[in-house]
Amino acid sequence: MQLMVKYMLSITALSKQFGQHQILTKLHLEIAEGEVFGLLGPNGAGKTTLIRIIMGLIKPDGGDVLLFGKYRPGSIEARRLIGYMPQQHSVYPGLSVLENVLFFGRMYRMQDADLHQRAVDILQMVELEHRKNDLVANLSGGMIRRVMLATALVHRPRLLILDEPTAGVDPLLRIKFWDWFANMVESGTSIIVTTHNISEAERCRNVVFLRNGQKLEQGTPQELMSSYHADNLEAAFVEATRSRAGNENNGALS
Ligand SMILES: Nc1ncnc2c1ncn2[C@@H]1O[C@H](COP(=O)(O)OP(=O)(O)O)[C@@H](O)[C@H]1O
Ligand SMILES: [Mg+2]
Repeated sequence: MQLMVKYMLSITALSKQFGQHQILTKLHLEIAEGEVFGLLGPNGAGKTTLIRIIMGLIKPDGGDVLLFGKYRPGSIEARRLIGYMPQQHSVYPGLSVLENVLFFGRMYRMQDADLHQRAVDILQMVELEHRKNDLVANLSGGMIRRVMLATALVHRPRLLILDEPTAGVDPLLRIKFWDWFANMVESGTSIIVTTHNISEAERCRNVVFLRNGQKLEQGTPQELMSSYHADNLEAAFVEATRSRAGNENNGALS
């Protein structure tokens, strides 16, 4: 049994610029282990940039990221502990569903017997066992998303980072995705998930609202809804944005 760390992810004063564009501005964020955590914000808020920094795929200009209290982004330890589902398609269209899952498992040096059993189990979970021998090229968008989830999960990561996993997914499948997330957390995997579909994120334990690379608010969906007198998360986000814009106009924001 691994010890729980206080913060699975600690982000301190993180900044990132692309050309003249300030994408993230001295962002501070701490995320606890053992929950579904939502990074919510509109397109262009900086969600993917933040995730790519956490994954060690791009370097920040300043600030610090610490995983599980001690590992840096991109280190071997961090890679082993994290499963990552990028926003863009990340599976091989010319391989079958099963071959994709096995390929990712082998990258993590899983033993064959364990890997084959694990592949069967996760394909069952994402309800694709009956399509396991089909080429990914022949699958629907929703099925491809499920294959991507399976490949991110195969090596039993302690933390799963999902960048808009439900983008372009129909409402029924979206509900299933959130059910699977809840089950995974139940069995000990932590999840960080981004979405611009803020209303779907009411099933997160905690969420942060991001806009223009800055944190507008952080809390449980319930806390955010009640502090903005909103009856859904999307309305709370809109209110948070409005009140921040008001502050900016008053010059109250340094
Ligand atoms: N490699 C890059 N080069 C230049 N600009 C980028 C790059 N990646 C992202 N951006 C810009 O950074 C901003 C934030 O993008 P992104 O992190 O993808 O936001 P989100 O995932 O919240 O939609 C956008 O304005 C985007 O155009
Ligand atoms: Mg994105």
